[in-house]
Amino acid sequence: MAARLQAPRGTFDVLPADARRRAALAREYDDILGRAGYETIETPVFEDTELFARGVGEATDIVRKEMFSFEDKAGRSLTLRPEGTAGVCRAYAEHGMHKLPQPVKLRYWGPYFRHEAPQAGRYRQFTQLGAEALGSDDPSLDAEIVLLLVELVAAAGARDVRVRVSSLGTPETREAYLAELGAYLGEHESELSDDVRDRLSTNPLRAFDADHAGTRAVMEGAPRLLDRLGSDDAAHFAEVRALLDDAGLGYEVDTTLVRGLDYYTRTVFEVESGALGAQNALGGGGRYDRLVEQLGGPGTPGVGFAAGVERILLAAEPGDDAEPGGVYVALADPGAKRTAFALVRRLRERGLHVQLEQAGRSLKGQLKQADRIGARATVIVGESIEVKDMGSGEQTAAAGPDEALALVEGALSS
Ligand code: HAM
Repeated sequence: MAARLQAPRGTFDVLPADARRRAALAREYDDILGRAGYETIETPVFEDTELFARGVGEATDIVRKEMFSFEDKAGRSLTLRPEGTAGVCRAYAEHGMHKLPQPVKLRYWGPYFRHEAPQAGRYRQFTQLGAEALGSDDPSLDAEIVLLLVELVAAAGARDVRVRVSSLGTPETREAYLAELGAYLGEHESELSDDVRDRLSTNPLRAFDADHAGTRAVMEGAPRLLDRLGSDDAAHFAEVRALLDDAGLGYEVDTTLVRGLDYYTRTVFEVESGALGAQNALGGGGRYDRLVEQLGGPGTPGVGFAAGVERILLAAEPGDDAEPGGVYVALADPGAKRTAFALVRRLRERGLHVQLEQAGRSLKGQLKQADRIGARATVIVGESIEVKDMGSGEQTAAAGPDEALALVEGALSS
């Protein structure tokens, strides 16, 4: 026998039961984001590698070690997208969307790729849903983006949800702050983990993320960016918070909140679930007022979120999402196949869910199958046609296919 092949490491197949849950989540997402004016955009699954190097940032883990990059036949470096914001911003600039009425509100759903060590809730191909609002720095957009994500994960039934928010200010404040933080970390260099020490010059903020005990102790006394914000940024953050407070959202201001992408300015946030293990972030996002410009477009503020579809479903109680019971058409005699087949087509044309016996079961086995799929009506086609109302158990002979249709509709509406 040939060796059995398996899906590549860190990938998975979506089987029908999962697919139903994903489809239900997709409907919530379409509904919630659609009502808020976010329209669908689709961007390519691979982009020029430079888009992510410039957009996400050379110093990030994503760009340094997690990208699936390859050369095309002309020697251009391409990368399977590790996230969606850079591609959306590229598309905004490329299609001159700054000429449209602002803000331009976009939503997306699709596959993303990161070469990470697979574990529960962390895959090499995963699905993100997300939203971006471009062209305005109004704090109500920041608040709206946070609230939409929270609303969505709540609608999906995610358990034990926590929200953390912070503000990173502008690149200038951040630079001054980073110098201050760098000097502080420099004074404590010997107490830090190797990893943090290696990255002192590239990304000292990541020190707040460290698990290493010595580093954590040092970070307790470290200066916090939130205390160094310029007055405009502080006022912006205060307004975002006021709107979240008015909406009744419970959240924590976490001055150590660090996101794994470099494009953020001002608001950043993360939504987590206590029902998950180590990979507990359901989603996150924030404002990126310089990103479009960094990608060669006009100066354009923006804010958005992305969330992991698989993680949202892991954090939710699996509900009863079986397909609604429809009609089962059984064959009392194999010679009735053509009549049964035609009847099935007519029932489906009426918008009903209809399954036909197609595996050569005995009549007894067929009736069992009708029960198994939760059929609400079973049509038994042989020399005569009988319709059984599965609710009442009543079985009625039909004079012909037309009457059988009427009896089925009667059984479904009872
Ligand atoms: P992110 O925090 O890198 O943000 O990813 C968002 C979410 O994608 C995570 O919270 C997680 O649920 C999911 N995710 C990330 N990596 C994996 C993985 N390897 N396996 C499974 N799920 C994963 C962004 O991507 C930003 N683009 C968000 C954003 C939008 N910021 C502004 N606008």
